[in-house]
Parts: sequence; C-alpha cells; structure tokens
Amino acid sequence: MAATTDQSALVRAMRYFNKSVRARHLLELKRHATPRKLLNLIIVEFQRRFLRSARMFGYPYWMVIGVTSTCNLMCPGCPKGLRLVDNRRKRVMSHDDFKRVVDQVKPYVFNVAFNAWGEAFLNKHIFDMIETASSNNLGTLVSANLNHLPEGGGERLVKSGLERLVVSVDGATQESYSRYRIRGNLDAVLDNVREIVAAKRRLGSKLPHIAWQFLLFEHNQDEVEMARKMAKEIGFDEIYFMTAGNRFNDERVNNQLRPEVAAKFYTENQAVDPVCARPWYFIEINSDGGVSPCCDIEAYNGSDDFGNILEAPLKKIWNSEIYQESRKLFQVKGYKPKVATVCTDCYRVKEFQTHPQASTAPAYMFAKSILHPIEAILDYRSSRKPTTLH
Ligand SMILES: C[S@@+](CC[C@H](N)C(=O)[O-])C[C@H]1O[C@@H](n2cnc3c(N)ncnc32)[C@H](O)[C@@H]1O
Ligand code: SF4
Ligand code: SF4
Repeated sequence: MAATTDQSALVRAMRYFNKSVRARHLLELKRHATPRKLLNLIIVEFQRRFLRSARMFGYPYWMVIGVTSTCNLMCPGCPKGLRLVDNRRKRVMSHDDFKRVVDQVKPYVFNVAFNAWGEAFLNKHIFDMIETASSNNLGTLVSANLNHLPEGGGERLVKSGLERLVVSVDGATQESYSRYRIRGNLDAVLDNVREIVAAKRRLGSKLPHIAWQFLLFEHNQDEVEMARKMAKEIGFDEIYFMTAGNRFNDERVNNQLRPEVAAKFYTENQAVDPVCARPWYFIEINSDGGVSPCCDIEAYNGSDDFGNILEAPLKKIWNSEIYQESRKLFQVKGYKPKVATVCTDCYRVKEFQTHPQASTAPAYMFAKSILHPIEAILDYRSSRKPTTLH
C-alpha cells in the first residue's frame, strides 16, 4: 500500500476485520453449541441487554486464557515486551490446572482463546491443553508471535485439533518486522508457518485456519501488498490489517497510523454501545488462575484480579461483590461502587457517563436486541467476500 492510500480504504479494511470477528463468533456458536450453552447464552444476553443485572443466573460464554505470562519478544506496546512488573504466583500454567479450569467452564463456554498477555507456545503443554479443550467441545484459537514451536512441531499442532491460529507478523521484511517485534526473527516465523501448512496438507486437514495479523504502523505501511503476496505463497488462509495502540506511551511504538482513521473506525464501531459487555459474557483466566474482566487493564500484573478460579468456584467469583459492583457501574450514571474495581477508572465507564443514549437504556436496548441478530447474519454474509483493502 502506498503511503497515499485513501483513508476510506483503511477504514474499510478495519471494518472488514470487525465483521469477520463477528462472523467467526457466529460460526463458533454453531459449531460448539449444546442446548445448555444456548440456554445460558440467552439468559446472559437477556440479563445484559434488558436488565443489566448485577447478579447473574447465566455464566460467561467466551473465555481468554493466559497459559503463560512470559514472552520471548520485547514489543514496546505490550507489558510483557516492556518487562513490566508481574506479581503472578505462577507464570506457566500446568496441564492439570488447565483441566480444572475447563471442567468449570465447559457447560457454558463456546470458545477458548489462548491469547492473553504472553506467548502461548512457550508453554510446553500447549498442545495437550488444546486437545483437552477440543475434546470438551470448546472452540480453540491461539494468537502467537510463532518464533518458537514446541516439541512435535507442525504435525503435533495440527493433530491437537486447533481451529484457528493467528500469527502476529507486522512487516514483510526483517527490518520493518523487528521494529515492533523486537528480538523476533521473521524467517523463523514464516518457516514455522510453512511447517504447519505442510503438516495440514500431509494429514489432509483444513484446520487450523491460519491468519496473518499485520499491525499497521507508519514504518510498515508500504509492505502491505508484499505481505499479501507472501501470505498467498506460503499458504496462509487469510491476512488482515489492524491499527495498533500505544497504551504504555512508549515512544518506540511510533504509532503513527493516521490517528484520524483509527478515531473514525472506533467512533463507528466501538463506542456505539455505551455499555461494556464484558463483565456479563466474557472471562479472562491468567496463568496462576487469576480472573480478570478483560485484558484491557492491568491483568498482566495480578493486582486487579476479581478472584482465582483455582481457589474458588467460578459461580462464586462470577457473583462476587467485585463483579456485581463492576456491572452496577453501567446501570446508572455516577454509580459509586462499594469496593475498588479496576472498571471504575476505565475509559468505557467514562464513555458511559457521557453517552447520550446511556440514559435511555430500555428503549435503546430493546431496539438493539431485535436488530443485533439481523446485523450478525448480514455481517456473516458480507465477511465471506475475500479480504481486500480496495
Ligand atoms: C498481547 S498479544 C499475545 C499473543 C502473542 N504473544 C502475540 O503477540 O501475538 C495479543 C494480541 O495483541 C496484539 N498486539 C500486540 N501489540 C499490540 C498493539 N500495540 N496494539 C494492538 N494489538 C497489539 C498481538 O499481535 C496479538 O494479536
Ligand atoms: S509477542 Fe505478544 S506477548 Fe510478546 S511482547 Fe509481543 S505482543 Fe507482547
Ligand atoms: S469496563 Fe473496562 S476494565 Fe471493565 S471489563 Fe469493560 S473494558 Fe474491561
């Protein structure tokens, strides 16, 4: 892509990404549904959209897990890359602990994403964990820098039953790639992908679906077309482009991807719903079992955890005072929680306080609940078109 690419092409590309995520969620629902999971989803969505309940009768149906909180790279936009303080008691989750987590969530959860802070492939039990998740009817996604593949390599990965692999490759040359992925080796990453593609062919497997995720910066914008060609040659199933954030204000991130494009995208896609949905449907489990409402916060550190799933039952944590108080922040403007919760200072709560539609909740929620399934089906249909910037 030339530096002169018009803004609407970039916004369209990012919008495509958003739609494809929603389409994938629909597929997960279809693939891993059971009557109990569907009933739970209906309860959760009813309580979230219509009642914004603090006490829940349904449980989270989407899970992100950090099976390790360590990383081999030093990306300057990430707490792991910056080597920020990590107070977690265990930085690598054991397979037994993973099984204990799965046992608790499997009646409700459709999909497990191994993409919390850290590099999942540094946990040598990752393939066993994916197998455990698959055999319990949970969809699986790993997002990785893929500089390292554990013992067993591509063949073991394909045999584990992984459904989706997202490889973070922010550049088509070593020079631009390593500007953000410090310590990363582009050749090693692409060789690992080739190995997985070859194993898929050998074993006659369509899975995992392999996506190249390219974070756009000023320094790699001109490599978009080259990356597309390489993705096709190597055998990726998809390539998509995302804008990068710089939440730690590190000057090396040099996040110059036309802030006005990102702002337009976020206004159109993110801030539409004044209520953050995560405290109702989503759960993040960290390497020591710590529970976080999302990964947008200091979940890498442990200080903001809402409990520990290896020490207390999910059902207790999900309706604990801290969770209930966090949900109440979105019930009425200006609510002062009775206990300290990381959500209080979050930008989503601030948006809610000032959002014009936040005060007309019942009518707004009613209309949205009717329109949402239609939107999701339309999104699914349009996302089947090939990825393109033009
Ligand atoms: C924290 S990483 C953990 C997974 C893995 N280590 C990786 O980098 O792919 C989770 C996701 O955040 C993305 N990411 C990293 N830095 C980012 C940034 N500055 N802005 C937006 N996303 C970022 C990664 O590419 C990855 O898709
Ligand atoms: S590879 Fe992923 S976890 Fe590691 S430093 Fe980079 S963004 Fe963070
Ligand atoms: S309000 Fe903020 S911190 Fe709380 S779950 Fe939502 S995004 Fe995460």
